[in-house]
Amino acid sequence: MKFPDQFIWGAGTSSYQVEGASRAGGKGPSIWDTFCERPGVISDGQSGEIACDQFHRLEQDVAAMAEIGLESYRFSIAWPRILPEGTGNVNPSGLEYYDRLVDHLLENGIEPYVTLYHWDLPHALQLKGGWMNADAPRWFESYTRQVIEHLSDRVSQWSTFNEPSCFLGLGYLEGIHAPGIKVSRAEFLTAVKHVLLAHGRAVQTIREHAKTSPNIGYCPISHSAIPATESEADIAAAREFTFGTPEPARGHWFSNIFTDPVLLGVWPEEAAAAFCPDPPRVTQSELELMYQPIDHLALNLYTAAIVREGENGAIEHVPGVPGEPLTTMGWTIRPEGIYWAIRLHHERYGLPIIIGENGVALSEWIAEDGCVHDAQRIDFIARYLRQVGRAVEEGFPVLGYYYWSLLDNFEWAEGYTRRFGLIHVDFDTQFRTIKDSGYWYRKVIHSNGAALSAPTTAAVLMQPNEIPQ
Ligand code: GCO
Repeated sequence: MKFPDQFIWGAGTSSYQVEGASRAGGKGPSIWDTFCERPGVISDGQSGEIACDQFHRLEQDVAAMAEIGLESYRFSIAWPRILPEGTGNVNPSGLEYYDRLVDHLLENGIEPYVTLYHWDLPHALQLKGGWMNADAPRWFESYTRQVIEHLSDRVSQWSTFNEPSCFLGLGYLEGIHAPGIKVSRAEFLTAVKHVLLAHGRAVQTIREHAKTSPNIGYCPISHSAIPATESEADIAAAREFTFGTPEPARGHWFSNIFTDPVLLGVWPEEAAAAFCPDPPRVTQSELELMYQPIDHLALNLYTAAIVREGENGAIEHVPGVPGEPLTTMGWTIRPEGIYWAIRLHHERYGLPIIIGENGVALSEWIAEDGCVHDAQRIDFIARYLRQVGRAVEEGFPVLGYYYWSLLDNFEWAEGYTRRFGLIHVDFDTQFRTIKDSGYWYRKVIHSNGAALSAPTTAAVLMQPNEIPQ
């Protein structure tokens, strides 16, 4: 299996999920800090107040990344750590924290990939309506400016938003993520519009003010499908499922509203009208602002539907087989989904692709020998990476792969009950243990993917835990 020489092997996290120190270092509260205070909203009653405490342990975590051999680390900036009130006064120690993180990464030969927004809006801005407020794109522009002024001498890889369909859908429609409100569908689309405008402003700001030539991306979740067979008709059904007007049953879990404006300069009127009878208007000049040239599309992919062309050309869902492999998130394991997501997105949008997130939560623990033998994670990553390899071999420009996640962390409304990491975290002691999958990923990285050709059954390694604590 051959990957390009420049292929980037990485892993990711996000600020609220790993940093902790949620009230330290001059940081203002985010919507996740305040949301977690509500009784019953997080399944184990926890919060990201301490999380993985990366704020105080970044040297240790960067050492662990180096031990795994990561070439890049995708992390996000906590907006309220930079601007505690969301706008106005800058918190110098917030900037210093990210300085230290970036410097440590670079000293260890690890390229920082910075996401500007991974869901932790300053609470002060939520009090003004959050993404419902028409000023939100301006707020985001000013915040972006601060980050770019400060870090762009050393950082060149940027992504604006992570998964708007999740943070708006779960946060504003379903109310199960921060800020935990339930607005109408039309209001939801208004919030979407503001996020897309904020994306456009941020891209302009990065282009205008970056001190080193930027590579800018956008990171939606991929709501894509696998065709049941590789017939043209089934592939067309998968394409239609991925980008067409969604069936009502999908709720907000569809793509085109989140991607077409940004990547094609088109507002999908039909999908908006199918979603609600009174969608907000989007003007031509607003579309122009959303549609800024970007350099790559970062796709987050965990699972996918399987579809085929049914009666009268309609999309038909292929039901999963009984006992199909499931992760502890309850997501089906469908490795071909990553190949089809790459292929269909590249065909439609023409951009190079980065896999921004792909990973698996498992039920696992530290064995008596002190190791975490997560053979199923190794198997999962190998299967998905082989599908990435297929896309690469067919000539699709895939620039890199970021495993989600570097560390077990705060999995939003699931608290600490789901473990995605290459590194196990004991949340009582903060003790880190690189899992077997972390050591196996090291082999994949060192061989630039060649190790994927070997059977993964040989990969349960019984490695001693060698990272400094
Ligand atoms: C998301 C986020 C991550 C999650 C991960 C696993 O997709 O929800 O980007 O923060 O932790 O995807 O659910």
